[in-house]
Amino acid sequence: MKQRTLAIIKPDSVEKQVIGDIIQRIQNAGFKILGMKYTRLTEAQAKAFYEVHKDKPFFESLVKYMTSGPVVPIALEKENAIEDFRKLIGITDPAKAEEGTIRKLYGTNIERNAIHGSDSPENGEREVAFFFALSELVWNR
Ligand code: CDP
Ligand code: MG
Repeated sequence: MKQRTLAIIKPDSVEKQVIGDIIQRIQNAGFKILGMKYTRLTEAQAKAFYEVHKDKPFFESLVKYMTSGPVVPIALEKENAIEDFRKLIGITDPAKAEEGTIRKLYGTNIERNAIHGSDSPENGEREVAFFFALSELVWNR
């Protein structure tokens, strides 16, 4: 089934100037780009996006990191997008992520881990809608 997932190229990757390589890897893996932005999150946006983690010990630091510089949110579509994208990026801690994954290649530590990917089809839809109005999504049917 076709699914949507939201990627966010995080501030550490923007700082490392690897946006282009990350997008190339996403395209090579067969994901269709429906929408893309270059923006900097406000504190309110970062808090709202990561609301599910608000009681975690890492929340405050995470919000600081995610607002520390520009990010690139990308709306993606593909068969089995959620699982396939999580495979492409690797697990949360880059040190433990599989060789060849984006987090292994570009992540710095468990917080500064290069890229976000939605964790369920429902969250994929919700997170795409968090960043993109319907009129900002392009697709060919
Ligand atoms: O991004 P992912 O779904 O793999 O992990 P998460 O558990 O949903 O956590 C969201 C984000 O919080 C991670 O991607 C990290 O940037 C950060 N995090 C952290 O700073 N310290 C942790 N122990 C776990 C996550
Ligand atoms: Mg998550």
